Amino acid sequence: MALTTTVNAADLEVVHWWTSGGEAAAVAEFAKALDASGKHKWIDGAIAGGGGTNAIPAVVSRMLGGDPVGAAQFNHGRQAEELVAEGLFLDLTDLAKKEGWRDFVYPSSLLDACTLDGRLYCVPVNIHSWQWIWLNNGAFAKAGVDVPSNWGEFVASADALRSAGIAPMATGSQAWQSSGLVTNVLAVSLVGSEAWARVNVDKDAEFAAGPEYAAVFEAAEVARDLSADIEVTDWNLATAAVITGQAAAQIMGDWAQGEFAVANATAGEDYTCLPGLGENKVLQLGGDAFYFPKNKDEDVELAQLELASLMISKQVQVDFNLKKGSLPVRGDVDLSSANDCMRQGLAILADGNVLPGGDMALTRDTVESINDLMVQFWNSDMSAAEVQKKYAALIASAD
Ligand code: BGC
Repeated sequence: MALTTTVNAADLEVVHWWTSGGEAAAVAEFAKALDASGKHKWIDGAIAGGGGTNAIPAVVSRMLGGDPVGAAQFNHGRQAEELVAEGLFLDLTDLAKKEGWRDFVYPSSLLDACTLDGRLYCVPVNIHSWQWIWLNNGAFAKAGVDVPSNWGEFVASADALRSAGIAPMATGSQAWQSSGLVTNVLAVSLVGSEAWARVNVDKDAEFAAGPEYAAVFEAAEVARDLSADIEVTDWNLATAAVITGQAAAQIMGDWAQGEFAVANATAGEDYTCLPGLGENKVLQLGGDAFYFPKNKDEDVELAQLELASLMISKQVQVDFNLKKGSLPVRGDVDLSSANDCMRQGLAILADGNVLPGGDMALTRDTVESINDLMVQFWNSDMSAAEVQKKYAALIASAD
């Protein structure tokens, strides 16, 4: 005779954009945890495209068409704000209270990015920051130069790398990549946190058009030139070019770390990572969060709450983030097996040299317009002065 249980098993379709080797290994930890609950089943809905370029529109159209997915990845911040305001997501406030999320989420501001009118609509799963350069140590040895410790030294090593037949940099051709590189990495690392916040948080368009911020776009011209020797589309293929030594460096968020891990490369030995390009050691508090589209099926709703709870639980946070290359959202977990790069990230977090993520400061519409502009710049000979002027105009119309 069957026992009466309050929870019936449900299949949960989870949409995310984690399709590279490192990402797939990390998301498998979530799937494993849900399946191990013995009640619910993870149905994987991976849709490639960084920044959710393809996954988010798919999630939105499924929701509006009355066929919502079970759970959806967004970057925490403003990406989902209109959908939250329309009441399309499950309210996680009671679950978070019951489990005391505010007591262990660190920094607790991560929860603010999930909150509207005092109610919580997402579970943050990691902290990812954009401001890193990844260097293949062997490539520099082959070129007969020291592994650089900052952007200036890296630029100075480009001729030696090229003479040794090594592409100085690999940058994928998708819009979100050139955009993140210029507006998040070069801006924060080379012009500074305050300047970045003045443009992205305060939307000071005059400052964005001014002489101090011009340094961002001048460096972008240099980065564009240093990336010209190798053509790649996906970010992880650019990382692969660095891992194999075809290219010496890539500017990319700390998710690149997952690719080095899958390739069994050791931080500090095979490769070097420099937060803030070695110039401004700072961390952006962006990252990934899951939202749960409202569903009429009660069993699905129980499975959604169970998944949210698992995603933020101690062991799953450790297992997932060690593979993902991101930092956990809990301050109370054991990270003794963190590698050199993760340790650097944790130290910056402890120092408090942090900034909001770009998606926390700007709406999805603004981010997309900036992405379009930056990829146009990247794939043409548009001058630094011209891209700066157009960028400042976008900031002027941002809310
Ligand atoms: C996400 C990362 C992901 C990266 C590339 C970013 O938007 O925050 O988790 O690894 O895109 O797919």
